[in-house]
Amino acid sequence: MPSYLVTGASQGLGFEFVRQLAANPENIVIGLVRNKVSPEAKAKAQGLNSVHFVQAQYTDLASLKAASEVVKGITGGNLNYLINNAASVSEVTELRNLGDFHTNFETLEEDLRYSFDVNVIGLIKTIEAFLPLVQAATGEKKVITISSGMSDLDLINSTDLDVAAAYAISKAGVNVAVAKYSALYKKEGILFMSICPGNIATERQTRGFTNEEDKSRLAALATKFMLFAPDWKGPMAPAESASAVLALAYRASIENGHGGSFVSRHGDRNWM
Ligand SMILES: NC(=O)c1ccc[n+]([C@@H]2O[C@H](COP(=O)([O-])OP(=O)(O)OC[C@H]3O[C@@H](n4cnc5c(N)ncnc54)[C@H](OP(=O)(O)O)[C@@H]3O)[C@@H](O)[C@H]2O)c1
Repeated sequence: MPSYLVTGASQGLGFEFVRQLAANPENIVIGLVRNKVSPEAKAKAQGLNSVHFVQAQYTDLASLKAASEVVKGITGGNLNYLINNAASVSEVTELRNLGDFHTNFETLEEDLRYSFDVNVIGLIKTIEAFLPLVQAATGEKKVITISSGMSDLDLINSTDLDVAAAYAISKAGVNVAVAKYSALYKKEGILFMSICPGNIATERQTRGFTNEEDKSRLAALATKFMLFAPDWKGPMAPAESASAVLALAYRASIENGHGGSFVSRHGDRNWM
């Protein structure tokens, strides 16, 4: 039975990955979460009784290694797909640019460190903890990391996209980390790649903003997205994004040049 571990599975895209994967009774599906109480209840309410939720903190290697032991017990010692979906999208700098912190630089510095710690070092710790299970797998061996087009230089430069620097810089680090892992483990037949899932109406995105300044910053960001992709119709449902990402993850291969790549859910550089 193919086995899947999805990180950040309590909500948003991560929960949707788990939901879609669990629809196939052949799959062993594990959601890695920081706290399993609420995702377990949500999964149960939706009849997703076969999904296993395992707890870990992405910034704590010991907790990830302990979770890996639990996952080993569930899968029988191997893992075909590690889907690194967890990430912090900082609310502090999400709609602000680097110049907005001239008088409060410490806030920016703290946010940059936090984003790097969770999104880059947390990713590397997660791979460190779970890679032995992927190496032990028979059949597919894929480490799929969810990145963001926000880290694409063409998108930034063509639209002067100045906001969300901490997040975008951390995702650029993610892309490089994934390429480095690919360079190291391609010869073992493990596919490492980064996929941008597109703009999705997850809980985080649909929470809305109460203050007028943030609403207008969000509208300005949407205008830039439309400049980059004039056909863009706004955020898509999580189900549409998850199925496109999974379809790409299934068809992608080292042989076809996907090792270390950073692409959209379409397999190209159309991020929207
Ligand atoms: N939504 C979009 O439009 C969009 C666009 C491009 C890329 N992405 C990427 O797609 C992935 C999923 O996005 P999403 O909108 O579903 O995100 P989300 O709900 O905000 O977060 C996804 C998961 O990341 C973990 N997480 C969030 N904040 C964290 C923190 N401060 N420290 C540690 N873990 C944290 C949580 O994991 P637990 O479940 O373990 O608590 C959460 O379930 C992310 O990698 C994101 O960067 C999203």
